[in-house]
Amino acid sequence: MSQHLPTASAVQALPGHPFIAYQGNELQVEDVRLSQLAAEHGTPLFVYSKAAMLAALAAYQRGFAGRHAQICYAMKANSSLGVLQIFADAGCGFDIVSGGELERVLAAGGDAAKIIFSGVGKTRSEMRQALQAGIGCFNVESEAELDVLSQVAESLGLKAPVSIRVNPNVDPKTHPYISTGLKDNKFGVAHEDTLRIYQYAAELKGLQVVGIDCHIGSQITDATPYLDAMDRVLDLVVSIEASGIALAHIDFGGGLGINYNNDTPPAADALWAQLLRKLDERGFGQKKLMIEPGRSLVGNAGVCVTEVLYVKPGEHKNFCIIDAAMNDLPRPAMYQAFHAIVPLLAKHVDTPEARYDVVGPICESGDWIGRDRMLAIKAGDQLAVLSAGAYCMSMSSNYNTRGRAVELLVDGSKVHVIRVRESAADQMRLEKLVAL
Ligand code: LLP
Repeated sequence: MSQHLPTASAVQALPGHPFIAYQGNELQVEDVRLSQLAAEHGTPLFVYSKAAMLAALAAYQRGFAGRHAQICYAMKANSSLGVLQIFADAGCGFDIVSGGELERVLAAGGDAAKIIFSGVGKTRSEMRQALQAGIGCFNVESEAELDVLSQVAESLGLKAPVSIRVNPNVDPKTHPYISTGLKDNKFGVAHEDTLRIYQYAAELKGLQVVGIDCHIGSQITDATPYLDAMDRVLDLVVSIEASGIALAHIDFGGGLGINYNNDTPPAADALWAQLLRKLDERGFGQKKLMIEPGRSLVGNAGVCVTEVLYVKPGEHKNFCIIDAAMNDLPRPAMYQAFHAIVPLLAKHVDTPEARYDVVGPICESGDWIGRDRMLAIKAGDQLAVLSAGAYCMSMSSNYNTRGRAVELLVDGSKVHVIRVRESAADQMRLEKLVAL
């Protein structure tokens, strides 16, 4: 399939990527040509648009205008410090899932009081660290975790603010690995057990119940599962509050999808207009709202620039071997995910178009980035893998002792290096040779 190839020499935006466009023959992020960045910094290279992140955030902010709401960026989507700084500076809180993420937020200038700590397996030391930092809320996922958190808080002479994550048992209609709100998932507590578990939590001395939480999955492109989940959660709010436990906030998690491949998720403001209507109808319009979006804030703000190393024609397939791999872009290997792949230079008069599997140099058949793509390429050409702002760098690895890529943040015509290329020495720094 041919992707977004421009025809005219004018500005041509890429669908779903508001600040990434061809200006004439050249693909740009904001005002900067990607070919220039590749020449200066080498490839593979992640480039993020600050304006695209702020525009994505603005859609949520419009959606919540006039409401008591806190947007907590789910930083697992992209936890680079330069990215966190943007959201901290814009007043966001953060959804974290580890002590390491907590340290990152604090290093980036985030406000501890606006942090929520999610995840099924928090350790005692992570709980201690988060309590001492004074985070806003622990989203607790089991009775066993309530017990441990209460003990840890008591041992510090503190009360841990808690929400319980409920599993609303709705199908978000997304990839099974990123669906989290069904009964068979490891996440949250079952709907039918929730009231009892809240009553239990309210008795524990080290806890202060402050809210309720749900998150049903990721890359959701339809409003219906959200509306269903909201109904299920509000039913619980009614019964929990009727039992005498006040809930100061409702956290609806993250999960809103982005356009990878002609996907049409609702815009954040449109989705929230629908959800807020339901909240109002059910009489909860005044409650404080929390949300935990990740992908929808950063996914389409980033690209990964890569160079074609070799073109390898085959009997059944042609391969386009690039210098980015599954260690940089793990989503195709993990979820058969689609990322659009486009050339940095729109027109290639000298090269015929052919069908390729775009693959990396790693010694695994799973190391593919795109399949059956129509591309007009030759060795030395550069490509941009789109929608690479979320769950790429943050899920990257050093497999095959490949250093992690450079990351750049573009702000208008300014370019900030937010991560330098990782060397083999960087990778070996924590290892020790044995005295043989
Ligand atoms: N809150 C909780 C509790 C979560 O588990 C997640 C994502 C989010 C918020 C943010 O969801 P988002 O708005 O980004 O959809 N690696 C996968 C996605 C895993 C999502 C895990 N949880 C991927 O590359 O598609």
